[in-house]
Amino acid sequence: MKLVNLSINDKEIQAEEGMPLLQVCLDNDIYVPNLCYLEGMEEPHASCRLCFVEIEGRPVASCTVKVRDALVVRTDTEQVRRLQRTALQFLLSTHHVNCKECPANKKCELQRIAKFLKVGLKPKHLEQHLKDIETDDSHPVLNYYPNRCVLCGKCIYVCRKKHGHALLTFAKRGIHTVISFYGKEDMERLPGKECLACVKICPVSAITLKA
Ligand code: FES
Repeated sequence: MKLVNLSINDKEIQAEEGMPLLQVCLDNDIYVPNLCYLEGMEEPHASCRLCFVEIEGRPVASCTVKVRDALVVRTDTEQVRRLQRTALQFLLSTHHVNCKECPANKKCELQRIAKFLKVGLKPKHLEQHLKDIETDDSHPVLNYYPNRCVLCGKCIYVCRKKHGHALLTFAKRGIHTVISFYGKEDMERLPGKECLACVKICPVSAITLKA
């Protein structure tokens, strides 16, 4: 293991070479908003676009950067905040904000990030693009709520890690993208109530156990 020295917000930091920059920030109590990253991910797919930082004036998604010696990083510039707010507003434009009715209320990552970035959960002038289906109840033990889902992919990642292959996947494209469970046969051999890794990892309660 080789240690490197870098600077984040003028703080001198030592970290293992090759670690994701986002992880190094979080490990050093420097919060960078993030939704789609999990510690240990080999190839983060960087879909939420919230984890921007600046390296030598250039914005980069910090989950995709491997730390190296002499990096100079800022996590709190105006440019960084503007990009993070835009990414958040994009997510909110496809999110049914109905916190009082939502089991994630008060522990929701979107709420936390909105508070951190000082963005209202219902920004004025933000056009909403909600999906037609509020609840997908096709799974035997789980419900999926497309208009809560932020498409972070953590459920797919933890499922694959735990079972060797994922029992759920992204389906459709663009603004129509949703999480989908595989066919009926696969559903029947799902670990269901014995596992629930996808339910536990979801940052916004888009997958829940059926009542
Ligand atoms: Fe980096 Fe989502 S955490 S893009």
